[in-house]
Amino acid sequence: MACFFLRGDIFSYPYAPRAYDSAVLAFLVSHLTDEEVDALLAALKKLLAPGGRFVFMDNAWSEAVAGIPRQKTGMVTRTLKDGRQYRILKRYYEKADFDEMAARNDFNLDFFQQQEVFFFAGCSFN
Ligand SMILES: C[S@@+](CC[C@H](N)C(=O)[O-])C[C@H]1O[C@@H](n2cnc3c(N)ncnc32)[C@H](O)[C@@H]1O
Repeated sequence: MACFFLRGDIFSYPYAPRAYDSAVLAFLVSHLTDEEVDALLAALKKLLAPGGRFVFMDNAWSEAVAGIPRQKTGMVTRTLKDGRQYRILKRYYEKADFDEMAARNDFNLDFFQQQEVFFFAGCSFN
């Protein structure tokens, strides 16, 4: 099986429509609003071949995570090694969030596996 990486903006993609069998979205949706997630999924739907599958992996909202003082969804400050600081959106997902996302965007949640820190969500468009 051939596997290759493309670098670009998924919202202005120069990629061939319906040409990809699968997609991995790692540590991306935790920085997007619902509106941006929906736009991402609309773009992805154009790229994937019929029956194409996609998997999300990211930080989960779990008891362990909730035990550390932090918000499930909120703006946080991230500091780079060179000292530059950025305010970013950070969200922690649980299965109910994916059930809502799937209903809004007409995809199947084929599996949702959550561990203490991370989740894996396997999906396919209807
Ligand atoms: C937290 S990093 C995760 C990087 C990598 N996927 C990983 O798991 O190590 C989020 C990534 O999303 C990428 N990203 C953000 N907006 C994007 C967009 N519109 N199109 C493509 N990539 C985007 C960023 O460039 C960044 O590399």
